[in-house]
Amino acid sequence: MILVSRFIAGTRISDAIAAARKVNARGMNAIIDYLGEDVTSADAAHAAAEEYLRLIQCIENEQVRAAISLKASQMGLLISRDVCIDNIARIAERAEHAGIFVWFDMEGSALTRKTIEVFEEIRERRPSVGLCLQASLVRTGGDFDQLAKNPFHLRLCKGAYKESPSIAYTTKNAVDGNYKMLVQKALEQTTRGVYPAFATHDDALLDFIVTQASDKKIAKSGYEFQMLYGIHNDRLVALAGNDHKTSVYIPYGSHWFPYFMRRLRERKENVYFLLRNLFRN
Ligand code: FDA
Repeated sequence: MILVSRFIAGTRISDAIAAARKVNARGMNAIIDYLGEDVTSADAAHAAAEEYLRLIQCIENEQVRAAISLKASQMGLLISRDVCIDNIARIAERAEHAGIFVWFDMEGSALTRKTIEVFEEIRERRPSVGLCLQASLVRTGGDFDQLAKNPFHLRLCKGAYKESPSIAYTTKNAVDGNYKMLVQKALEQTTRGVYPAFATHDDALLDFIVTQASDKKIAKSGYEFQMLYGIHNDRLVALAGNDHKTSVYIPYGSHWFPYFMRRLRERKENVYFLLRNLFRN
């Protein structure tokens, strides 16, 4: 299906590596995500971790510039914290030896606290890890303050999960307002060990970040921009051409459905496109 392949590199590691190579050739780094979430058996979580170990090996062998990104629920967080930490610790150790950075995605709010706890435990042992926080959640400012007490690689996104108004900002204005507040906080802390990666395709926010970073005289090496595979990458190329650090998040694997649905929900044009093509066939 054309729309799926717009957002997902393919089902195999080799598909992700090929996509990463193209991204590298355009001056950007890759972040490769093996799709999977809400795993409910220890065997499946272990198998996902093994896939990440193979992925790390391929990134090393193929010499592409790529980090990896994973989800705590894919690593077994719904089974037990120990299973999850065990799996991620193995990946983080192997990645560190290979010089590959490990990002933690952030999932729905039911897992926010537990994901932060797992992240903090791994970060104590392996510094080359970073965590995504969501501007849509009211708690995120406090989480940032807590996490920034130690060197912190932050990926700041708006948040792709539907959340209750009791814990989340639900209008675009409010989410964007909180995102801007967090941009300022993160940029101000770059001299104290915070490295922010701004994960957004929102042109107004991108302009805001560039202006803020320039006003605060923050070196371009002190932060980066990240976008999803298949979305607004022309702007990312332009940022890369302007000496900004940039990364494209490349998902692959056969468990693409939940990821795809989140991409559909983000933009109504995607749903119209899908429906038009369904009725055409
Ligand atoms: P917004 O939704 O306002 O979109 C701005 C513009 O971007 C739109 O007008 C449109 O042009 C374009 N656009 C955005 N989404 C599109 C889509 N699906 N299809 C086509 N065009 C689109 N979320 C999360 O909860 N946990 C996570 O771990 C991550 N990780 C992550 C990594 C990276 C690298 C990125 C870029 C994003 C995430 N996200 C995420 C997703 C994020 O929370 C958010 O849902 C999307 O990025 C869309 O929000 P924007 O900031 O792009 O703004």
